Amino acid sequence: MNFELTEEQLAVQQAAKDFAQSELLPGVIDRDNEQRFPAEQVKKMGELGFMGMMTDPKYNGGGMDSISYVLAMEEISKVDASASVCMSVNNSLVCWGLERFGSEEQKEKYLRKLATGKVIGAFCLSEPEAGSDATSQRTTAEDKGDFYLLNGTKNWITNGKSASVYIVIAQTHPEKKHKGINALIVERGMPGFVVGRKEDKMGIRGSDTHSLMFTDVKVPKANRIGEDGFGFTFAMTTLNGGRIGIAAQALGIAAGAYELALKYAKERKAFGKHLTEHQAIQFKLADMATKIDSARLLIWKAAYLKDEKKDFVKAAAMAKLYASQIAQEVTTEAVQIHGGYGYVKEFHVERLMRDAKITQIYEGTTEIQKMVISRELLR
Ligand code: CAA
Repeated sequence: MNFELTEEQLAVQQAAKDFAQSELLPGVIDRDNEQRFPAEQVKKMGELGFMGMMTDPKYNGGGMDSISYVLAMEEISKVDASASVCMSVNNSLVCWGLERFGSEEQKEKYLRKLATGKVIGAFCLSEPEAGSDATSQRTTAEDKGDFYLLNGTKNWITNGKSASVYIVIAQTHPEKKHKGINALIVERGMPGFVVGRKEDKMGIRGSDTHSLMFTDVKVPKANRIGEDGFGFTFAMTTLNGGRIGIAAQALGIAAGAYELALKYAKERKAFGKHLTEHQAIQFKLADMATKIDSARLLIWKAAYLKDEKKDFVKAAAMAKLYASQIAQEVTTEAVQIHGGYGYVKEFHVERLMRDAKITQIYEGTTEIQKMVISRELLR
């Protein structure tokens, strides 16, 4: 067993860290306050190769392994989780899903652009009445011969407005339940497709989360991913991979808060000595660092299994379950160490604590991860 990163992985980690410090840190608090999508920064992330990291170079991707991807996700999430969720959805749910299951024509037409970040993708599964219960899709894709007629509403869609390519999950054969669901590639601008309300969120306020409305949208049959009825398996399999990215996001949020708390504790004095000289603070830092390292090991294991083409479903769900849980705990302690300063918006830990919560909700809640893990254990 070798825990050493390769030179290439270390270089990716350093590049992500440099980018986050120089390009994302300035203005991150303002973007959060104003709920402003980091459009310029995401464009640069595409230019640097962060938007299609694992995609095959023949489709303009970086051809990197999943370990490099989680290293980059961690560094970027330490600073700006709104930018990293955009990156995560594009890399894991859109590019990876298309590369694994899309037709050659779809890869040529869509993946080549998505992998460079020149266009951004969105993954549209959640609905007003189907969040965790993903089999209960109300959006319909009626088979009309050469095309599907798409009708329905999707909710809480990351990259909802900034995306140009949307993978939409919809029901074609309701009598077949989850085996009648399809995944369709929908383009921005297709008649009948309207981007709806922007959500006013607790955290990741720089990411653009929208509802989407589809009214008699004609989607060509060529835009269906996989065979008829493959959509649910497509969504579940893609989410399995996506959970590694969100786990790395949670880890980054936790690690970012920890680093800030450590720095603050070294500088701040109370009762005549530095905070780091108080055992109460030392114990907090020890707990925080231990949790972060444990989460990182679970994430690296899941990424390793995925790269080795081994079964990573349980490992990915465990990584997301644990990393999102410790992200709550570590960011809360980071605020506590900062005292009153931690509760005000000029200090990054306040935002990181709010950002952490979403990692327990999207790409499967805490409870969904436990369902996935126990399904695998009891199989
Ligand atoms: N991987 C692959 N296949 C899976 C799977 C998994 N993790 N979980 C279930 N399946 C398959 C099953 O094998 C079964 O297929 P077969 O009938 O062919 O055997 C089928 O799915 C149905 O399985 P279940 O009867 O167990 O389904 P269920 O309804 O009881 O529960 C679930 C399944 C795991 C709870 C699933 O609905 C789920 O993961 N829900 C969460 C959805 C989710 O993560 N939503 C987040 C939205 S996306 C998002 O957040 C993106 C973003 O913007 C950031």
